[in-house]
Amino acid sequence: MINVIGLGYIGLPTALMLAKAGNKVYGTDIKESTVKKLQERKLTFEEKGMDELFKEALDKDIHFGVKPIETDMYIITAPTPYDKYTKKLDCSYVVKAVESVLDYALEDSIIVVESTVSPGAIDKYIRPVVESYCSENKKTIHLCHAPERIIPGNMVYELINNSRTIGADNEKVAKKVSDVYKTFCKGEINFTNIPTAEMTKVIENTFRDVNIAFANELAKICKQGGLDVNEVIRIANKHPRVNILKPGPGIGGHCIPVDPWFLVGDYPLTTELIYKARQINDSMPNFVLNEVYEIMQKEGIKDSSRVGLYGLTYKENIDDIRESPTLQILELQKRHLGNPLKTYDPWVKEKITENQVFDIHEFLDSVDMVVVLVAHDEIVKHQELLKDKVVYDTRNVIEGDKVYRL
Ligand SMILES: NC(=O)c1ccc[n+]([C@@H]2O[C@H](COP(=O)([O-])OP(=O)(O)OC[C@H]3O[C@@H](n4cnc5c(N)ncnc54)[C@H](O)[C@@H]3O)[C@@H](O)[C@H]2O)c1
Repeated sequence: MINVIGLGYIGLPTALMLAKAGNKVYGTDIKESTVKKLQERKLTFEEKGMDELFKEALDKDIHFGVKPIETDMYIITAPTPYDKYTKKLDCSYVVKAVESVLDYALEDSIIVVESTVSPGAIDKYIRPVVESYCSENKKTIHLCHAPERIIPGNMVYELINNSRTIGADNEKVAKKVSDVYKTFCKGEINFTNIPTAEMTKVIENTFRDVNIAFANELAKICKQGGLDVNEVIRIANKHPRVNILKPGPGIGGHCIPVDPWFLVGDYPLTTELIYKARQINDSMPNFVLNEVYEIMQKEGIKDSSRVGLYGLTYKENIDDIRESPTLQILELQKRHLGNPLKTYDPWVKEKITENQVFDIHEFLDSVDMVVVLVAHDEIVKHQELLKDKVVYDTRNVIEGDKVYRL
């Protein structure tokens, strides 16, 4: 039996995939409402392929509860935010999740930490807790780090096909854990020690952050130089060794804008590039908002409530709004005391912003200008809906000569 601790964006699909592959699974979450919903056979978030996976898993051996159970393998997927002031990892959720399983863990059991943690965090915050418990209770419990790298919007596919990293103290533990992942994962499994596994995960997201920052800086340079950044990147990428990413209105979610801070927090004097990249990416919502005002002036739009932000999520075709550029833009706009901008997102069904509209036609009828912040399929496939609007496309997905672009 595998006990998955934390049933959020990572824990739930992992638990379902393990069950679908024939493992006995118990999913634990401290949030009673989450557990209740899952027990009622209702999904807690939308994601491509999850409905089917959920049904397939429920036909197998999976149960949900608020407490851990007695078993020999735990997979921890608790959140890992960073402290706003020190920029260091807040490992408290993971530590609490680990502590919660210790009394239930059978002799020789393994606790696999899937949550992203800063390099050295397991030895610093988690191992001492486990070792002191084990020495008091004369038990052996092993630790392992198997960081997750799936992307929302394509989680089900990536769970099966991505390669994985397993950091363990010895081969026996690594083999036991990899045998479990191999029940559903077709990707290559790379073995290493725990600190190296921690570092690889954090630098994967940092690599993305730095490269996106380069594209965003280029967007600003090209704007000043009167050039189309998308055209510049398209041609530069014809070079066999150049692959510039797309600029955008900022970075959201709980990975790319969070993980680089772990390195900056721990190595403040040696992370100049990483810190600068974070600042550049964090500056994009403000850059976009300034552009919106300039376009409004050019187009004679005086009332900001006649401007609509298309997309509230942090990326296309998902319902996750955490740290999204749209929310950051709205927060910045509040300080300018204008009428709140309208918002609309086909994936977000609950009211989260002041001037939110829930029907695309009603949204378009209520605005003169649309700022495309998320490239949801809905708008990419139905661009004709925007034909009478002033359009500012920050994702370079809307065709037409009259479209303003980042
Ligand atoms: N979301 C992603 O795209 C993604 C991708 C790769 C890695 N990660 C990493 O995976 C980890 C989890 O991220 P997430 O997006 O799934 O977070 P999440 O907030 O969606 O889910 C975390 C869940 O853990 C539960 N939880 C917290 N403390 C608990 C405890 N003590 N016992 C039981 N349940 C507990 C919460 O109630 C929540 O449901 C983070 O470290 C994140 O950085 C996330």
